[in-house]
Amino acid sequence: MRSARVAIMISGQGSNMEALINACRAKDFPAEVALVISSRPKAKGLELAKKAKIPTKVIDHTKFETRDAFEDAIQDALKAAEVDLICLAGFMRVLNPSFVHRWRDRMLNIHPSLLPAFKGLHTHERVLEAGVRFTGCTVHFVRPEMDSGPIIIQAAVAIAPDDTPETIGEKVLEFEHLIYPEALRMVAEGRARVSGNIVPIKDGQQKTGAIINPPVS
Ligand code: GRF
Repeated sequence: MRSARVAIMISGQGSNMEALINACRAKDFPAEVALVISSRPKAKGLELAKKAKIPTKVIDHTKFETRDAFEDAIQDALKAAEVDLICLAGFMRVLNPSFVHRWRDRMLNIHPSLLPAFKGLHTHERVLEAGVRFTGCTVHFVRPEMDSGPIIIQAAVAIAPDDTPETIGEKVLEFEHLIYPEALRMVAEGRARVSGNIVPIKDGQQKTGAIINPPVS
């Protein structure tokens, strides 16, 4: 089977992008990074992608009059690179429903909370204010509403009494880097397919689509 061609879309530091690129380098990984698209010309992730010798394209949203025109440019780039799957990784633009529908069940996103809780920005501040004992991260298929869609994998991270938004952010990011490649692997292998609103996981190494930290013995 040919490996899935993946586009990673970023706007910032690109640490999840880097985790995906590194995972795709492994010989037995079922996907390859065909293209990195950045909505910001100065995104730090662009440099990392170039160093990794991945083709990059800046599609600067400020240069387009409408969101449709911006998305047409993205679509053209995806088509030219013969992309099968998209991974949004800190991509900070809202996408029109028409774009999302076109990539239905072929576009993944990562969010730094246990969705459907704490959608949107400033997640870790709100997690602390709410006093929840666990937070985490989620990789999901993208639907038009922000941070929503069938969940592929989650990691739960326990909150310590002295945690700050920054320390939670660091702990969660570490797990983001574990679960995003795993989600991509499961999708590319056809082991994680949408059924209604859920994503049953077929047999394989990661059977449950869940990681808990600290592990429950
Ligand atoms: C991550 O926390 C991700 O969950 C969120 O934006 C952040 C991007 O970080 N969507 P990076 O650019 O991958 O380092």
